Amino acid sequence: MAEYYKNKVIIVGCGPGLKAYISPKVLYYVKKADVLVGSGRLLKLFPGVDAEKLMLEKNYGIMVDRISRWSFTKQVVVLVSGDPCFFSYAKMIIRKLGRESCIIIPAISSIQLAFAAIGESWDDASFVSLHGRIAGYAKLIKKVRDYQKVGILTDQKNTPAVIARRLLEDGIRDRIMYICENLSLPGERIRELDLASAVNIKTHGTSVVIIKKRDF
Ligand SMILES: C[S@@+](CC[C@H](N)C(=O)[O-])C[C@H]1O[C@@H](n2cnc3c(N)ncnc32)[C@H](O)[C@@H]1O
Repeated sequence: MAEYYKNKVIIVGCGPGLKAYISPKVLYYVKKADVLVGSGRLLKLFPGVDAEKLMLEKNYGIMVDRISRWSFTKQVVVLVSGDPCFFSYAKMIIRKLGRESCIIIPAISSIQLAFAAIGESWDDASFVSLHGRIAGYAKLIKKVRDYQKVGILTDQKNTPAVIARRLLEDGIRDRIMYICENLSLPGERIRELDLASAVNIKTHGTSVVIIKKRDF
């Protein structure tokens, strides 16, 4: 009976964007890749790698099917930003292929870097992603009421200013908002504001927000 050998798909975390945050373990697997899958930004982090490079855009479902097919004949390595186990494409791949068919290499998440930047622990925080979500504000508001600290992934629609406005509309006032922009990248900026001052704030690039209850 014919036996099919299937390579495990390696999902590697590339950290917040700065090359110095890419671990030797990730480099080891990237060098072994026949096929490297990732966003344009992440693929650019590995210019000298001799692998077929496939750009991940909004074609997530199609790409998961392709990754599954390729893994029968090729070593596929998938690049994800930050840590693969924190709000990433890894979840979709694992759901489709099964945990036993994947190897995950962790990395520093943007959220870890944000908490380090403001000098706060994250072991007592809760997290919400508004990245690519149309809904999600009910969950966010509940968490902001229930937890001392909430870390939030944002996007171009769910910006820090929009988040501040939504919290104020719900009667939440007494909080500090930290806006951590382009962490580890050119244009990195960390700002601490009250919610009322944040409603008109402009941000550029990518950012994480931390909402913290004031200490009395
Ligand atoms: C799809 S999520 C991926 C999260 C990732 N798995 C992680 O652990 O950071 C993308 C979001 O992460 C945040 N993010 C990623 N890199 C960042 C950076 N260098 N600076 C600030 N925020 C970043 C932004 O909120 C962005 O919209």
